[in-house]
Amino acid sequence: MFLRLFKRMLTALGALLSDKAVHRLQMILSYVRLGRWMKARGFRFPVRFAERDGVFAAVAPEFKDKRVLYLEFGVYKGNSMRWWSRTLTHPESRLHGFDSFEGLPEAFDDAGGKYAKGWFSTEGQIPQMEDPRVKFFKGWFEQTLPGYKLPEHDVLVITLDADLYSSTIYVLRQLRPHIQAGTYVYFDDMSRPDHEPRALEEFMQETGLKFRPLAADVTLNNAFFVCEG
Ligand SMILES: C[S@@+](CC[C@H](N)C(=O)[O-])C[C@H]1O[C@@H](n2cnc3c(N)ncnc32)[C@H](O)[C@@H]1O
Repeated sequence: MFLRLFKRMLTALGALLSDKAVHRLQMILSYVRLGRWMKARGFRFPVRFAERDGVFAAVAPEFKDKRVLYLEFGVYKGNSMRWWSRTLTHPESRLHGFDSFEGLPEAFDDAGGKYAKGWFSTEGQIPQMEDPRVKFFKGWFEQTLPGYKLPEHDVLVITLDADLYSSTIYVLRQLRPHIQAGTYVYFDDMSRPDHEPRALEEFMQETGLKFRPLAADVTLNNAFFVCEG
């Protein structure tokens, strides 16, 4: 009886709240769910930083002078690509960025209605970069990835910054044959449990692969892992 009354009170409360307030409540719950998932997975980041650059800088020394293949899914205006272009020193490293440059293929519904379909569109414009090691592959991942052949490399670093569950799981499954012990995988927007964490969880269950947390920002939005095989 008490539970039924409580549920009725909650719907009455919902009727009084604004969309923004409900979104904030959802966000609170998302962080709680994320904490629960991390605990269940035994994930503990040894270092946490205020900003994304701190996370990148903490991990980069492990491979920056090696022959890296850096693959970025979700390029937008190229901010993260520029960071890695400045940081990776090996002349035979390759930095390949994949993006529709037409924005998100579907609404990022977990984000309070802010990121509609097409958000992050650059209207087809590809970022201009001086570094000849950088190459962009324009189109939906479903179009560009199946025919893509990975160049030779000693270390594979994958950035997943497409925000959505659907885009992230597609990339992980497509790259499955190349993800092995020593592959670095960075998630940008890890804090929304129904998207990137869900994709990682399903990928781990499907493959049995294990990932070790390396560094994250304080909000867990930016999270770097290395695959342990
Ligand atoms: C958050 S932005 C990337 C931001 C960028 N890494 C940075 O640091 O500035 C997400 C990008 O993912 C792209 N994206 C998402 N899903 C995609 C898909 N299935 N195929 C191609 N591009 C996709 C969008 O076009 C968008 O530019």
